[in-house]
Amino acid sequence: MHEQWAKQYGHTFTYTGILGTRRLITLDPKALAYVMNHSAQWQKPELTRNFLADFFGKGVLFAEGEAHKRQNPSFAISHIRELTNVFHEKSQQLRDIWQRNLAEEGASMSVIDVVPWLGQATLDIIGLAGFDYEFNALNADGEKNELNQAFTTITKQGQRFGMFQIAQTFFSPLKLIPTKQSRTIANATAVMDRLGRQFINNKKQAILAEAAARTKGTAGQAYVEKNTLTTRDLLSRLMVANMANDLPENQRLSDEEVMAQIPTFLIAGHETTASATTWCLYALSRDQEIQRKLREELLRLDTDNPSMDELNSLPYLDAVIKETMRLHAAVTGISRVATQDDVIPLSKPLADKKGRWRHEILHLNIDQIFIPILCVNRNEEIWGKNALEFRPERWFNLTDKINGIPGVVPGVLSFIAGPRSCIGYRFALVEFKCLIFTLVRAFEFEMAVDPEQIIKKSNIVTRPYIMTEIEKGPQLPLKLAPYRGV
Ligand code: HEM
Repeated sequence: MHEQWAKQYGHTFTYTGILGTRRLITLDPKALAYVMNHSAQWQKPELTRNFLADFFGKGVLFAEGEAHKRQNPSFAISHIRELTNVFHEKSQQLRDIWQRNLAEEGASMSVIDVVPWLGQATLDIIGLAGFDYEFNALNADGEKNELNQAFTTITKQGQRFGMFQIAQTFFSPLKLIPTKQSRTIANATAVMDRLGRQFINNKKQAILAEAAARTKGTAGQAYVEKNTLTTRDLLSRLMVANMANDLPENQRLSDEEVMAQIPTFLIAGHETTASATTWCLYALSRDQEIQRKLREELLRLDTDNPSMDELNSLPYLDAVIKETMRLHAAVTGISRVATQDDVIPLSKPLADKKGRWRHEILHLNIDQIFIPILCVNRNEEIWGKNALEFRPERWFNLTDKINGIPGVVPGVLSFIAGPRSCIGYRFALVEFKCLIFTLVRAFEFEMAVDPEQIIKKSNIVTRPYIMTEIEKGPQLPLKLAPYRGV
């Protein structure tokens, strides 16, 4: 829709949204960079924040201003390097399950809906990497553990967003009316809170015990230092930084703030990468030549467990991953509102209603800016006439035009840019590479339904649906055959 509008109305235009709000959509790179880099002036809309808070608590996705600065956990490259083995472990577990299923069926080929499997693999990964917690989601025979059940309930409810939920978002008193959905969410949230508190207490004890052992003191007198700990999970790192004795009191997070990071990491770090990997398998299934070329490169590495640096040295894999992120952005757009008067610069002048050329936009005339991630990623002016096609080769012949696109990953806006860009982007890219590395080496993929039947629907993240089976929820059935070499 936004792409069609941009074709009709140009780079930068306004429209009237729900409740008469004046909304601006722009593809202008200078304007986008300005808004994303000035995150103190341009914040998430209240409605978005309320939605995030209702479902996932007041974590880093929700926070603004000082609270956001305090909550930002670190994702250093060295840390992601250490986590690569977790990504491999779960990618290989998924591979082994699919191989076993094929063997049990005694078939040379099987049809598998990859959507739930990739969701389970990425949930397991964020569980281990995020909290040192084994969700065991890939273990289909095993009992779903309590946290898995509660989290799955909340995400499922988050996807059921009907008219009443929309009305509740706009008129918060409606939230006081209990519904089946609100009761289900409240029960699941209570379980997550209880388990979250347990998690945090256990981790606190472990951090204090480790600090005490290091300083040969008792846990009560332990001196916690910011950069010294042996654990690799994100939550422990955040907690150590937060418990450090030399951290000024006004920068310390409350237990509630630490707790809110659990659902935040779970939702931000699991659905997004699952969506990206799903779309990548879709693109590869649609183009056998690209799939073959990728597999050829992956098989050149003589190990099932390449290091992060080895994975990053594979140029075609890198191009396939970036092309997927470009064409199938998991999050297709985000909104921002101004907290103070501002003037947004433009790279291309714009004619106002009176025909005068303007080089900037006054925010006073608009209520909200929409950053159309997918539109920018697929802009024909940047990527040419074949912008809508999946062509990894384009990443070897980049033109200067991509330099203007603001983004933590050059050329793609999928992780946005600036102080509120995705803090997990390096984590996501390596995880994504590990999954594709393992699966494409082991299997050949083909579409099991007519590709024209697959449509995209966005609900926080974008997932594939079969046009005639929308009510069944997201699905992507693919034909899988073990790769047996040539
Ligand atoms: C393909 C994978 C991913 C994509 C496309 C993606 C995309 C995004 C986008 C667009 C935002 C900005 C949201 C907004 O401002 O409304 C964001 C924020 C965020 N992402 Fe990701 N993400 C991915 C993976 C991850 C992973 C794996 C993690 C954690 C391990 C993560 C953690 C976060 C967090 C905590 C934020 C909030 C940052 C802030 O508000 O300061 N993301 N992500």
